[in-house]
Amino acid sequence: MIEITYWGHACIQLSDGETTLIFDPFISHNPMATIKPNQVKCDYILVSHGHFDHFGDTKALAKVNGATVIGIPEICAMADFDETHGMNLGGSYKFPFGKVKMVQAFHSGGAPGACAAGFIVEFGGKTFYFAGDTALFGDMALFAKYNIDYAFLPIGDNFTMGIDDATEAAKLIKAKNIVPIHYNTWPPIAADPTAFKAQVEKETASVVHIVKPNESIKA
Ligand code: NI
Ligand code: MN
Repeated sequence: MIEITYWGHACIQLSDGETTLIFDPFISHNPMATIKPNQVKCDYILVSHGHFDHFGDTKALAKVNGATVIGIPEICAMADFDETHGMNLGGSYKFPFGKVKMVQAFHSGGAPGACAAGFIVEFGGKTFYFAGDTALFGDMALFAKYNIDYAFLPIGDNFTMGIDDATEAAKLIKAKNIVPIHYNTWPPIAADPTAFKAQVEKETASVVHIVKPNESIKA
C-alpha cells in the first residue's frame, strides 16, 4: 500500500513505509503546508522544474535527509548537492524503489537551459503520473498505455491547465484515479475542485479524489 500525502500546492509525497518520495517540495513558503521542512523525511526528491513553488526546499531537504534529487540536469545543478540523478525528457531509469520515466510538460523550465518535466513513477505495484506545471497537450494520450493508477493534475489555471483543460487531459490519460493539485494557494489560481470532480466523473471513467492539504489517502 502506498500512502499519498498532499502538502498543498504541488507538493505530493508517496511512501510505502520504507521509502518516501516527495515531488516538488515547496514547504517553507507554502501557505497551505502545516509541516515544517525539518519534519519532512524523504529518500528521493523529484523536481519537475525550477520555479520557486516547485524547487522550494529541495536544497535543505536533500542535505538534511541525504536524499537523492531527481530532475533535469540544470535543475539538479540548482540543488548544489552531490546526490543528484539527472534525467531528461523521454528517459527512464530503474531506481531501487521502482522505475521513473521523465515526460514532457508544456511550461517554462525556471532555470537557464531547463525545460519543465513530469514524471511517471512505478512504485509499490502502482503507477503514478505527476504532471508538474503544464498546459494541456495531445500527447498525454500516449500516457494511457502506462495504465496510470493515480494522476496528479494541476487545475488552478493562469500558470497551468484550468478545470476545463484538465478535464480534457483526464480524457486522454485515462487514469483510474485523479488528484487535483496546484490550486487555491493564491488568488490567481483559485479553482473549485468539486466542480472539477463533477465534470471529470461525468465525462470520464476516472475517479477524482480531493485531498485536503496536509491530509493523506491510501493507494
Ligand atoms: Ni511553474
Ligand atoms: Mn507552479
